[in-house]
Amino acid sequence: MGKIFAVTSGKGGVGKSTVSAGLSLAFSCQGYKTLIIDMDEGLRCLDLMLGVDNQVVLDLSDILHGREVFDAVYEVNENLFLVPAPQKTGMIDSYLFANFVTNVKDLFDIIIFDFPAGIDFSLYEALPKDSLFLTVAFPDAVTVRDAATVSGLLSKMGCQSRLIINRYDYKFLKRRFYKNLDDIIDEAQLQLIGVLPVSVELQGLSHGLKLSKKGKPMKALIRISKRLMGEHILLPKIKKI
Ligand SMILES: Nc1ncnc2c1ncn2[C@@H]1O[C@H](COP(=O)(O)OP(=O)(O)O)[C@@H](O)[C@H]1O
Ligand SMILES: [Mg+2]
Repeated sequence: MGKIFAVTSGKGGVGKSTVSAGLSLAFSCQGYKTLIIDMDEGLRCLDLMLGVDNQVVLDLSDILHGREVFDAVYEVNENLFLVPAPQKTGMIDSYLFANFVTNVKDLFDIIIFDFPAGIDFSLYEALPKDSLFLTVAFPDAVTVRDAATVSGLLSKMGCQSRLIINRYDYKFLKRRFYKNLDDIIDEAQLQLIGVLPVSVELQGLSHGLKLSKKGKPMKALIRISKRLMGEHILLPKIKKI
């Protein structure tokens, strides 16, 4: 059965789609057959980020309403496949969604759901209990507090979550509010699974530009993907992330 990761956050704009797209590329380039599903109804973006926007005709709502799964699965590379989000809101029924998850979970090694921000958890219950939530936050007090709120609510539902710190910038952090990563982890009350640097390359994903395989962002994404698969990979020196 495939491993399921659900990317979430309290605040919008913290990089969930960037993290989801980046991780999907990191898993697929290591040979894992990966499915990424855009759950942001009405605000789809992963088709553009992953460069298949000009092919998209059908989406998740078409699968839920009777089309074959593979009618709305778009190939990004030989190991990476995308299901785009519906164009309109209110199209994802939780019962039909749960059936969809059951149908696809044995077909892929990795399944990544890119959820919208916030605390509407109605669809989270449709995921298998061993799914792992990845809560994304910036190194700032507001998004870290929201990450703590989300993970607290998830844990009440019996769901496990890990923290991804995005837009990390050593010099900025030092000059501002947190002394180090431990302070952020303490405040988020979440186990850290990885840190992504602030980077023009990651921003380029939003323009449909490709990530270089040897750049810092892809290296960070590969480290996170390996940790998610149970490997013990240390954080690099904090100035080098
Ligand atoms: N690590 C990063 N470095 C630079 N820009 C980033 C980074 N992560 C996200 N961004 C930019 O921030 C904006 C919001 O990211 P996005 O992934 O769409 O957030 P969300 O899905 O949480 O709303 C986008 O313009 C994206 O390119
Ligand atoms: Mg998003």
